Formats: sequence, C-alpha cells, structure tokens
Amino acid sequence: MGKLLLLLLLLGAFSFVFIQAKTTVCMVCNSFKRGHCLSGKSNCTTMYSPGCRTRNFFIFSHTGKWVHNHTKLDCSSACLAENMYEGRLKISTFCCKGEDFCNKYHGQVVKKDVY
Ligand SMILES: *[C@@H]1O[C@H](CO)[C@@H](O)[C@H](O)[C@H]1NC(C)=O
Ligand SMILES: *[C@@H]1O[C@H](CO)[C@@H](O)[C@H](O)[C@H]1NC(C)=O
Repeated sequence: MGKLLLLLLLLGAFSFVFIQAKTTVCMVCNSFKRGHCLSGKSNCTTMYSPGCRTRNFFIFSHTGKWVHNHTKLDCSSACLAENMYEGRLKISTFCCKGEDFCNKYHGQVVKKDVY
C-alpha cells in the first residue's frame, strides 16, 4: 500500500512537471493600453508554440501617422507574426512562448519615433 501511494505521488509529480514544461500561460485582455488591461482581463493556457498572441491595433491618423489605438492579448493555436492592413487599420501581431505572460511585453507602449 505504501509503495503504491509513493508510485502515484511520483506519477503525479512527473505529469505536473511535464505539463509545466509544455504549456505557457498567456495574458488575455480585450483592451490593453500602456501596460494596463482596461477590460476583459483573464488568462489562458496554450500548449502550442508560440501560442501567446499580442495584436496591436493602429489607426491611420489625419496627420499621416499610424497611431496606436489599443492592444488585444490572447492565446492562438496558429499565431503568425505579421502586419495586416484593413483600410485605415493596421494590426501588428506578435507571438511568443516559454515565459508566462510573455505576450504583455509586446503591447505597444507609446513609442512616437517608431511610427
Ligand atoms: C488565471 O485566471 C484565473 C481566473 O480567471 C485566476 O484564478 C488565476 O489565478 C489566473 N492564473 C494566473 C497564473 O494568474
Ligand atoms: C479603439 O479603441 C477603443 C477602446 O479604447 C475601441 O472602443 C475602438 O473600437 C477602437 N477602434 C478600433 C478601430 O479598433
């Protein structure tokens, strides 16, 4: 009985380590601005890599510049780093893995000289 219990404990520990190594917790946010989540804050776990997604939404302003409007954070099974253009809207996507909540570091923080 003691041996069986030990075996079960070991199995549990191993599967815990295994799952920890394979998944990343990502931040989920509907509207992320200047490092803070304004609405829809949560988290999600992904086993895909790289499955944490950051999408920065920019709007083409009247002064001819791309102005950051908001950022969305979530998990994606098919994250693709790219810039997508939809009229006056630009969606710039970043993907990451390996570090929990890594996707919040790719949110656009006022960098005027870049855009
Ligand atoms: C993920 O979100 C849940 C609530 O949705 C919360 O209870 C949990 O602590 C969060 N996990 C982490 C690692 O922040
Ligand atoms: C810009 O951000 C606001 C929230 O701050 C949102 O309501 C609005 O839909 C966004 N505009 C676009 C074009 O995504």
